[in-house]
Amino acid sequence: MKKTIFIISLLIFLSLPTPSLSLSLSLSKPCNKNDEKVLFQIKKSLGNPYHLASWQKTLDCCHWYCLKCNKTTGRVIELTIFSGNISGQIPHEVGNLPYLQTLLFRKLTNLTGQIPSTITKLHHLNTLILSWTNLSGPVPSFLSQLTNLEYLDLSFNNLTGSIPPELAKLPKLSELRLDRNKLTGVIPESFGTFRNLQSLHLLYNKLIGDVPRSLGYLNFSTIDLSRNQLTGDLSMFFGKNKTIEIAYYSRNMFQFSLSDLKFPASLRYLDLNHNKIYGSLPATLTVLSLENLNVSYNRLCGKIPRGGELQKFDNTAYFHNRCLCGSPLPACS
Ligand SMILES: *[C@@H]1O[C@H](CO)[C@@H](O)[C@H](O)[C@H]1NC(C)=O
Ligand SMILES: *[C@@H]1O[C@H](CO)[C@@H](O)[C@H](O)[C@H]1NC(C)=O
Ligand SMILES: *[C@@H]1O[C@H](CO)[C@@H](O)[C@H](O)[C@H]1NC(C)=O
Ligand SMILES: *[C@@H]1O[C@H](CO)[C@@H](O)[C@H](O)[C@H]1NC(C)=O
Ligand SMILES: *[C@@H]1O[C@H](CO)[C@@H](O)[C@H](O)[C@H]1NC(C)=O
Ligand SMILES: *[C@@H]1O[C@H](CO)[C@@H](O)[C@H](O)[C@H]1NC(C)=O
Ligand SMILES: *[C@@H]1O[C@H](CO)[C@@H](O)[C@H](O)[C@H]1NC(C)=O
Ligand SMILES: *[C@@H]1O[C@H](CO)[C@@H](O)[C@H](O)[C@H]1NC(C)=O
Repeated sequence: MKKTIFIISLLIFLSLPTPSLSLSLSLSKPCNKNDEKVLFQIKKSLGNPYHLASWQKTLDCCHWYCLKCNKTTGRVIELTIFSGNISGQIPHEVGNLPYLQTLLFRKLTNLTGQIPSTITKLHHLNTLILSWTNLSGPVPSFLSQLTNLEYLDLSFNNLTGSIPPELAKLPKLSELRLDRNKLTGVIPESFGTFRNLQSLHLLYNKLIGDVPRSLGYLNFSTIDLSRNQLTGDLSMFFGKNKTIEIAYYSRNMFQFSLSDLKFPASLRYLDLNHNKIYGSLPATLTVLSLENLNVSYNRLCGKIPRGGELQKFDNTAYFHNRCLCGSPLPACS
């Protein structure tokens, strides 16, 4: 299949009048022999699955399924194994592909075991996605050695234990997804020292305790802490000069007054449902370009401010509070 596509694209390239295209094609370096050897070890370690049937000696490994090479060097820079019938563990040999920038194992429910420590050898790794698998064990603190990581996604697995504070040492990390695992303990205080984190997803875990105030120092665009057992206050995420656009905090035990919060102009989505939030809805909510708002199932009181987007949401955005009233809820008495 892959080979056919390659031949077809070759024919298309050769039929094009631009000499630079066929030149760059003829200059692409064949797959590095060490990388090829490691890839055969990986295939064997995964039990020679059908998904990797194109991984054959007869074809240059830069043209195998699930792989991408740097055309200049012939080194493998991406290994992306997605939605196959693959069983077993992540082969420790992946650590021997030294130029990998992207490593992905996704939607492989029969992939078990722990995250192998050999991946700390991958100094060029900027994207690590191990998601929708049956991986278990901890979120390893050794991931903090992957100092080029920008994107880390370990969502939808069976990971347990607490979140390692060392992750905050990753200087380039901009997005962290640890959602839908079985993580316990608190959100580390160290997370306030992330240098570039813009997107944090910790939903559907079993996290407890107050959210560290230090997280207020970060410039988030998205934060999702829904469906944990978190307590305390969220005011550090709000304030006039903040950058947050998407803020999901539903189904926790947050307990604070909403009355005096200052919302940033960037805010588009705010979900606070199922908490213990009290006070009233500030009139400043009417100046925001909200796409969604949900404050249902809290302890709010008073009149829903009129104007802006606030009357565009149906009553379920506001119901089950102590004494909220006014459109779209029944009029205040
Ligand atoms: C490929 O390798 C060359 C030489 O090391 C480097 O200059 C280039 O940026 C690399 N390209 C990619 C896409 O990594
Ligand atoms: C997982 O493994 C079981 C047992 O070998 C097999 O029946 C099932 O089809 C596999 N599922 C997937 C998605 O690979
Ligand atoms: C996955 O592979 C196993 C054994 O190789 C086989 O028994 C099973 O039917 C396959 N499952 C799917 C969904 O193809
Ligand atoms: C995940 O692994 C556990 C044991 O390691 C096993 O009991 C369970 O069936 C696996 N789940 C899936 C969806 O493969
Ligand atoms: C997690 O592990 C448990 C037991 O070890 C298993 O029953 C469950 O299916 C696993 N979850 C996933 C998403 O694989
Ligand atoms: C957040 O943005 C402000 C203003 O652009 C900047 O001064 C500050 O260093 C940023 N903080 C972080 C942690 O990126
Ligand atoms: C917001 O203001 C606080 C205190 O004045 C400051 O420390 C922070 O860096 C500011 N953030 C942004 C995004 O400007
Ligand atoms: C608000 O959240 C509640 C509780 O999950 C849900 O029933 C309701 O449909 C949501 N309403 C809106 C407008 O999002």
